[in-house]
Amino acid sequence: MTSMTLPGVTLRPADSDDVAAVAAVWHTGWRDGHLGNVPASLEQHRRLDDFRRRVPARIAGTQVAVLGPRVIGFVMVDYDEIEQLFVAAEARGRGVADALLRQGEEMVSAGGLGRAWLAVASGNTRARRFYERMDWQDAGPIEYSAETATGSITVPCRRYERQLGFPSRG
Ligand SMILES: CC(C)(COP(=O)(O)OP(=O)(O)OC[C@H]1O[C@@H](n2cnc3c(N)ncnc32)[C@H](O)[C@@H]1OP(=O)(O)O)[C@@H](O)C(=O)NCCC(=O)NCCS
Repeated sequence: MTSMTLPGVTLRPADSDDVAAVAAVWHTGWRDGHLGNVPASLEQHRRLDDFRRRVPARIAGTQVAVLGPRVIGFVMVDYDEIEQLFVAAEARGRGVADALLRQGEEMVSAGGLGRAWLAVASGNTRARRFYERMDWQDAGPIEYSAETATGSITVPCRRYERQLGFPSRG
């Protein structure tokens, strides 16, 4: 199914004023995509405050999707990894995620890298279907270290990859 883009949505780089809004979308979306799909011990490290703590260091690699003043989704890129991709529930199935993922790919590509990767919890079937529709390939199982305030927790995931085109020369 090709999703219809939600009218009026634009993407822009995140800034420090977006921290609370990004954390709120991340917190709610994390629960939607991960509860029951990750070790139960991770949930206590995924409160709203935990996301607020984690966002600032990532703002420079974040693009937000906005509808008027509202942040309705975001993508975070770390080198060649699409580290996080979250869309608010009311904006799902409307093409917002498509635009954010392609934006993330462009950020990886602009860094001179020819392949992007991401990890998705094996049981997160909606996200996996989405990535496959977006032409990402399932490259197999991966034990992903999910960061916590005190260390990390291993999450059984699938690694997805996509070969990228060369960045255009201005
Ligand atoms: C993952 C996410 C970004 C995808 O964006 P989206 O707008 O929901 O994606 P789409 O609706 O375009 O595509 C989802 C696909 O899953 C299907 N789907 C919908 N609900 C589903 C469900 N409960 N189970 C399985 N598949 C489902 C949709 O039909 C669609 O498949 P299709 O295109 O073949 O019809 C978004 O769902 C989200 O933010 N989820 C919560 C956070 C999350 O899991 N992030 C990813 C972390 S790796």
